[in-house]
Amino acid sequence: MAFPVSSKIIFFLLLFLFLLSATAQRSINVTLGSSITANKANSSWVSPSGEFAFGFQQIIPGGYLLAIWFNKIPERTVVWSANRDRLVQEGSKVQLYADGRLELRDPRDQQIWAATSSRGVAYGSMLNTGNFVLANSSSVVLWQSFDEPTDTLLPTQKLNKGGILVSSFSKTNYSRGRFLFTLQNDGNLVSYTRNFPLDEPIFAYWSTKTTGRGFQVIFNQSGNIFLVAENRSVLNFVSPNEASTSQFYHRAILEYDGVLRHYVYPKSSDSEGGREMAWSSVDFIPSNICTSMGERSGFGACGFNSLCSLGSDQIPHCDCPYGYTLIDPNDRMSGCKPNFVAQNCDEGARETDLFSFIDMPNTNWPFSDYALFKEITEDWCRQDCLNDCFCAVAIYNNGRCWKKQYPLTNGAIDSSLGGKALIKIRNSNATVYSSVFKKSESSTLIIILSVFLGITMFLLLSLLLYVFCFSRQKSKSLQPYQDLPGLNIRRFSFKELEVATNGFKEELGRGACSTVYKGILKNDNIEIVIAVKKLYKLATEGEQEFKAEVNSISRTNHKNLVQLLGYCEEDQNRVLVYEFMSNGSLAKLLIENSRPNWYKRMQIAFATARGICYLHEECKNPIIHCDIKPQNVLLDEFFTAKISDFGLAKLLKPDQSKTTTGIRGTKGYIAPEWFRNMPITVKVDVYSFGILLLELICCRRNYEPDVEFETEMVLADFAYDCYKEGTVNLLVADDEEALGDKRFDKFVMIAIWCIQEEPTLRPTMKRVIQLMEGSVEVPIPPNPTSFGTSV
Ligand SMILES: *[C@@H]1O[C@H](CO)[C@@H](O)[C@H](O)[C@H]1NC(C)=O
Ligand SMILES: *[C@@H]1O[C@H](CO)[C@@H](O)[C@H](O)[C@H]1NC(C)=O
Ligand SMILES: *[C@@H]1O[C@H](CO)[C@@H](O)[C@H](O)[C@H]1NC(C)=O
Ligand SMILES: *[C@@H]1O[C@H](CO)[C@@H](O)[C@H](O)[C@H]1NC(C)=O
Ligand SMILES: *[C@@H]1O[C@H](CO)[C@@H](O)[C@H](O)[C@H]1NC(C)=O
Ligand SMILES: *[C@@H]1O[C@H](CO)[C@@H](O)[C@H](O)[C@H]1NC(C)=O
Ligand SMILES: *[C@@H]1O[C@H](CO)[C@@H](O)[C@H](O)[C@H]1NC(C)=O
Repeated sequence: MAFPVSSKIIFFLLLFLFLLSATAQRSINVTLGSSITANKANSSWVSPSGEFAFGFQQIIPGGYLLAIWFNKIPERTVVWSANRDRLVQEGSKVQLYADGRLELRDPRDQQIWAATSSRGVAYGSMLNTGNFVLANSSSVVLWQSFDEPTDTLLPTQKLNKGGILVSSFSKTNYSRGRFLFTLQNDGNLVSYTRNFPLDEPIFAYWSTKTTGRGFQVIFNQSGNIFLVAENRSVLNFVSPNEASTSQFYHRAILEYDGVLRHYVYPKSSDSEGGREMAWSSVDFIPSNICTSMGERSGFGACGFNSLCSLGSDQIPHCDCPYGYTLIDPNDRMSGCKPNFVAQNCDEGARETDLFSFIDMPNTNWPFSDYALFKEITEDWCRQDCLNDCFCAVAIYNNGRCWKKQYPLTNGAIDSSLGGKALIKIRNSNATVYSSVFKKSESSTLIIILSVFLGITMFLLLSLLLYVFCFSRQKSKSLQPYQDLPGLNIRRFSFKELEVATNGFKEELGRGACSTVYKGILKNDNIEIVIAVKKLYKLATEGEQEFKAEVNSISRTNHKNLVQLLGYCEEDQNRVLVYEFMSNGSLAKLLIENSRPNWYKRMQIAFATARGICYLHEECKNPIIHCDIKPQNVLLDEFFTAKISDFGLAKLLKPDQSKTTTGIRGTKGYIAPEWFRNMPITVKVDVYSFGILLLELICCRRNYEPDVEFETEMVLADFAYDCYKEGTVNLLVADDEEALGDKRFDKFVMIAIWCIQEEPTLRPTMKRVIQLMEGSVEVPIPPNPTSFGTSV
């Protein structure tokens, strides 16, 4: 019982610190007449908590920026600045004059910058929120830095209509750069490329599509960023909060690469045991800036002739294609120039034999084409581009050939692009294989995943620690069930379960590695119905492994997961005890019931998606289910779908039926990578979910031998055929409810995305939910099998 005591101590400590900072907040005023001079002494006006400072930062030798920054973080993190386009020399001064003007003047006393409001100012103050304010004697704020953001938003800051963030030019150059993010007066929240060096936008690459509705962007006290309507209803969650603001510093910044990122940084360094701290990104938009550029004009994400690819770090990288070099070697976004002499255009001197191609799969420069040929071969496409001195690059995809000329715009490498780019270069350079391609191709999903998981786990761990301290009181009532340390599940004796199940009498279901029985636990006057799962064919006999897995399963808690109540481990017996789901499995519902109604089916689809998403993204140790199918989606008394059997993949021997296909060519729920020598990732569950979604939409099994036409036997194939032919209504025949729902087509498209044979093409479950909810447009899905055959 040591915990409640220590948690109380921590609580009072925090309360004390809170009170301390609350009183300190009212004790620092920047009085009229105060000033700071730009020099190496680094003097600044610091907030009462010491967390923010207002003053000068030396950016280059002899070049100072009047700025606000995070003052307790070693890494320079500027959140606001006054003179980003015009650094000032040493000896420049910012002064709060006696008449209330706040001005920045250079050593020759020339005004560089001034706060826009001065009438009646009595004092200035650097607040603990990172907001520098000028106020009158009744403490009414007359001017605040929060109203004139540069590229960053902080918790409690708002972006009003007309408000704008302009990205920096580069990581180290704070002057205004190439992108902007604005809440337009029409209510739409938009990211634009900027017509550098002018402020006008070129084209939008991300928006909330809230014209006429958006009113204000709020970064609230708890670290959520969202767009609200005038009546305060939330229109769009720009970034959810994943880390408590009491434990982490937060900021959202439109970075020099055009991505708006929500970053967090742990406030206390002790918890990490001396590990090096850094800002970590919890969310960002757009999800892939490389493929978001939807118009020809402008430099796109990376500059002309350049190629953008999302690295394993989820950061866009700009690379020149082989045979090209950066125009400005110090600026990766400056664009690329060919480092060979252009092809001669004179008739009779075409030099066709002096040029050849570098092939780059999944690469394209959309919108730069001046010619398109259809139904031709790749060889024909190559020859035609070779003969054409205007042709810098040809894109070949599925019998089509697009010819592109300079400057090539919005270049990107991404598996969603398909096809290949044939990059024409002079022969002397053609022998070495492209390094860009090799690099991007080998950056595997695994790395992305592990980096992402690493960050998430770290955040969750820190959160967990925090929650631990404060939620102990609540969990105390469950003490009797406690056995594994820190868990609220109970260890049963085998005898107990034998009694509960009346000698394992009523069988509920049977799988390759387990049998499930119904049981009743009697506790005082309460009866609880349970499902008792006896496991055999365990992958490991080890006690430790079993405990570890049970431990990890028991830590999951989501309304769309079947809750584990306890376990038994005695001699050779390994048993898991779950809550009982009175309406059986989805498989039973689909087969037995006379077609459950459309809305109920879609509710089940949503619930299943949320359950899987939780396993993938929100668990401390992400769980790949590996066996999503209707038999494993159970329904409780209210027909709420809950996923069962998660976490067992590691515990049980691989199901033999998985490694040998039953009927060849019949697609089951099992993703193709199981049969190929490919890494198994969370995307296998996305595939299975895709099949399940199709079954829910069409209300039939994936494989149905008793159908009129052979083409309809395998639902996955049938669905894509129908989609391609524009006859999706055939999928649901006479289901008026489905046909009447305007989301119907969209759900079919989402399912087709999920069953792409190429795992990287499948969306994540988080994405699937966004697509289903309609917060993101569903792009046209490719043929699920196209990737494997064409490249
Ligand atoms: C700061 O200045 C204002 C105006 O003079 C005054 O009302 C307020 O009490 C001052 N705060 C402190 C803590 O000195
Ligand atoms: C001022 O800041 C710079 C950069 O952070 C540091 O190197 C320097 O030592 C500081 N000077 C003083 C006097 O604190
Ligand atoms: C401070 O500003 C507010 C709003 O402009 C005004 O109502 C108030 O009278 C001012 N107080 C003083 C002392 O000037
Ligand atoms: C930052 O970039 C701008 C735009 O190219 C340039 O004019 C300026 O000189 C750069 N500033 C520094 C300090 O390098
Ligand atoms: C608030 O406004 C939005 C958009 O204008 C609208 O869709 C919504 O129904 C409104 N909500 C309420 C509670 O008025
Ligand atoms: C911030 O917004 C989230 C989401 O709307 C909400 O759950 C939370 O309570 C808000 N926090 C504060 C302090 O308003
Ligand atoms: C291509 O050849 C030209 C001329 O021989 C040379 O200057 C250039 O560096 C070469 N480029 C590459 C990438 O090898």
